[in-house]
Amino acid sequence: MKKLITLSINQEWHELYIDTRRSILDVVRNELGLMGTHRGCDTGNCGACTVLVNDVAMNSCLLLAADYHGASVITVEGVAGNGMMHPIQRALVDCGGIQCGYCTPGMVMNVIGLLLDESHPSEEAVRRRLSGNLCRCTGYVKIVDAVLAAAGDALPPGMQP
Ligand code: FES
Ligand code: FES
Repeated sequence: MKKLITLSINQEWHELYIDTRRSILDVVRNELGLMGTHRGCDTGNCGACTVLVNDVAMNSCLLLAADYHGASVITVEGVAGNGMMHPIQRALVDCGGIQCGYCTPGMVMNVIGLLLDESHPSEEAVRRRLSGNLCRCTGYVKIVDAVLAAAGDALPPGMQP
């Protein structure tokens, strides 16, 4: 069955006639060609598909797009502005916490969601949040350092997604 829905993706409205079985992940990648949001497990376990939905970080593989008519979705493509990286992206580069293109976008989106909830999270809160973003290639120390560094400056006005 198909349904007509509207979604704001990266602050631009889209009318989409979609199969009701399609996820938000399917929509951003397959309908809109936004390839920064990745499909890892497709079961809600790896965090590679994390986007903000109405300012909450969520695993987009688990969300049926038809249930989110009228929602705002921000993907990693929507967080940088005016040719500048988002402060979290900048901090990941500066602290040596940047990882592969597969896991990093999900981490960026999950951490932005955390900072929208809690502007100065503890290290424990950062670690707890990142536990939903799996990477078995390396460690999390520099990523946690980067998040704490960025949180020290909080998110400047105008840099919120
Ligand atoms: Fe969504 Fe892994 S692809 S959590
Ligand atoms: Fe990206 Fe491990 S999955 S560095």
